[in-house]
Amino acid sequence: MVNHTTKDVQQLRPVTPHTILSAKLLALQEQLQEANVSTEILQNMEESIQLIEPLDQYISEYSTRPSTDLVQLEKETNQVDWDSAYENGQTQIRLEKEMVSGGVEGQFLNMLVAITNTKRILEVGSFTGYASLAMAEALPEDGKLIACEYDDFAATFAKKQCNSSPHGNKIEILIGDATVSLHKLSTAGDSFDLVFIDADKENYFNYYTTILEKNLVKIGGLICVDNTLYMGQVYQENPASKNGQAIKKFNQSVREDTRVQQVILPLRDGVTLIRRVY
Ligand SMILES: C[S@@+](CC[C@H](N)C(=O)[O-])C[C@H]1O[C@@H](n2cnc3c(N)ncnc32)[C@H](O)[C@@H]1O
Repeated sequence: MVNHTTKDVQQLRPVTPHTILSAKLLALQEQLQEANVSTEILQNMEESIQLIEPLDQYISEYSTRPSTDLVQLEKETNQVDWDSAYENGQTQIRLEKEMVSGGVEGQFLNMLVAITNTKRILEVGSFTGYASLAMAEALPEDGKLIACEYDDFAATFAKKQCNSSPHGNKIEILIGDATVSLHKLSTAGDSFDLVFIDADKENYFNYYTTILEKNLVKIGGLICVDNTLYMGQVYQENPASKNGQAIKKFNQSVREDTRVQQVILPLRDGVTLIRRVY
């Protein structure tokens, strides 16, 4: 491993379709070895693992490395015991280090901001501020990112981390339920070039509808949505979790929506780019 500091190459719980598949194949390989199957079967198994297991690390190694501020932010996030923070009442909801979008997705978002000449960004669900800072790094000096974050502890942590970067002054965090913050922003007549939705999955459709109907995204602007493959559950007939069911429905609604054009990219847990065309 070339760099142990980013999420993409760390030993984290598998939460994306191909890291889950890798873990399952490795378990299957062990079972096959114990079952004394033919060398041909073992060879096929090994080749299957070689196709999928190194993928994340390769993508990470050959993508632009995150800034030292982002590396530090991720390191600090990983040092928090998020389970204890919830159990002793520091966080209001259960949070986990796997929520950080990480090096490759951060660079992807950063590049989106740069190539679209985005000046105003709205983020729904910012956790410890990784994607906020990754996107802010590509904003011009007079650019602005407004993040909506429910949890006070995560938002305070994000503010502290982002403020140690020269791009931190472009970031503002609205603490509280995103539904309320979105309505406040729309009442104030705010509008954004790029929106990143990455909060509670069961509310994705509500956020998306509000953003379009209240003109929080400009015509021609982009809505980027995280976790739209939801651990591969969206292409199962009956997704195993409520979140999987919600994202499956969300994807169906976006497909039927003539106001937008969309593409799902198999980056980590799936990222959908939705362009408001009407
Ligand atoms: C997956 S994390 C966000 C990760 C972040 N975008 C990043 O790139 O590192 C989801 C966040 O959404 C927040 N969240 C959940 N429900 C929310 C709500 N109703 N309003 C605002 N934020 C919410 C959680 O507290 C959590 O911090």
